[in-house]
Amino acid sequence: MADEPLVLGIETSCDETGVGIVRGHTLLADALASSVDQHARFGGVVPEVASRAHLEAIVPTMQRALAEAQVTLADIDAIAVTSGPGLAGALLVGVAAAKGYALAAEKPIYGVNHLAAHVAVDTLEHGPLPEPAVAMLVSGGHSSLLLVDDLTNGVTPLGATIDDAAGEAFDKVARLLGLGFPGGPVIDRTAKEGDRRSIAFPRGLTAPKDLAAHRFDFSFSGLKTAVARWVEARERDGEPVPIADVSASFQEAVCDVLTAKAIDACRSQGVRTLLIGGGVAANSRLRVLAGERAAKHGIEVRVPRPQLCTDNGAMVAALGSRLVAAGVAPSRLDLPADSAMPLTAVSVAG
Ligand code: KG4
Ligand code: ZN
Repeated sequence: MADEPLVLGIETSCDETGVGIVRGHTLLADALASSVDQHARFGGVVPEVASRAHLEAIVPTMQRALAEAQVTLADIDAIAVTSGPGLAGALLVGVAAAKGYALAAEKPIYGVNHLAAHVAVDTLEHGPLPEPAVAMLVSGGHSSLLLVDDLTNGVTPLGATIDDAAGEAFDKVARLLGLGFPGGPVIDRTAKEGDRRSIAFPRGLTAPKDLAAHRFDFSFSGLKTAVARWVEARERDGEPVPIADVSASFQEAVCDVLTAKAIDACRSQGVRTLLIGGGVAANSRLRVLAGERAAKHGIEVRVPRPQLCTDNGAMVAALGSRLVAAGVAPSRLDLPADSAMPLTAVSVAG
C-alpha cells in the first residue's frame, strides 16, 4: 500500500459535494452532486443553501463513489477532507462526515488545503508533477501564482489577486450581460461567436509602475468596471450591446494577463513546468493561449481536463494519496474546518 495507497477524498468547500477515490495516481471514482442550480437565481453561491445541500448529498454521494470504485470503506487506507479555505458552514459538513467515517472505520484522516488539492489533481491525468513547478490557481474564490517545490511539504506564494478572483470576474461580467450563473462556462461559449480584438479592455497591474510592486499579482475589479461602463455607454446611446464581442474581449483581457504573468513567473524562477488549476482553468481560450505562449519559452503546460478543474472529490483524494505516500502524519480527529486556511499549510498537522 505504501506508494499506491487507496484514499477517499471529500470536498464540500463551496457548492459541489464531491467524493473521490484514488489508488496512487489512478482515479477509481469521482462522484459529484452540485447545488449550482439552487444558487443561479441569486447570481452567486448562498452559503446557507450550499450547507443544506451538502448535508442532503453527502451520504448518497459517498455511497455512489464506493460503488463506482467497487470498494468498501474497510478497504480504504485513509480519508482526506477539505479543511479549508472555503465557506465555513459548507466545510463543516464535509469535515464532520469525514470524522464520522474515519471514527467508524478506524481510518487515518487528513484535513487538506483546497488549493493544494487543485494542484494535486493533475497527477491523476498526467502522472507525477515535475517539481519545481509554477502553479496558477484560478477559480471563483482565488487567483494565485505559487512555486511548488514539493507539494507534500508546502507551496510558496508568488502572487495573488488584490481584489476579485478571476472566476468572480467571469461571474460578475456574465451577470451584467444577462448571461446567468455561473458565468465562466457561458462566457466561454458566447465568446466563440465574438471578436476578441473588438474592444480594448484594460489589463490590470501590467503597467510598468504596477509591475514594480505587483509583478505576480492580479487585479480584475477595474476590468469588470470597464466592461460595465462600456455596456452602459452603448445602452445610453440606444445602441445594441454586442454580447459576443464584449464576452470575447473581456475573456481575452483576463487570459492575456493570466498567461503573461504565469509565464513570467516560470521564467523568473527558472521553472519549465506550468500547471493551471481551478475552475477557470476549464476556459478554452486560457488553455490555448497558455499553450502558445509557453511553447515559445520551452515551458510545458499541464492542465487537467475541465471536469477535474472545477471542484471535485478526486482532487482531495489525489492530495491525500500523495501525503500518505510521502509518510506525512495524519491530522487529529478534532481537526478544524478552517475557512481562512493559509496557502502555506498543505494539510492540518497531526
Ligand atoms: O474551482 P471552482 O469550481 O470553485 C471554486 O473553488 O471557486 O471554480 C468556479 C469558478 C466560477 O467562477 C466559474 O465561473 C469559473 O470557475 N469557471 C470558468 C469556466 N468554467 C468554470 N471560468 C471561465 N471559463 C470556464 N470555462
Ligand atoms: Zn476550487
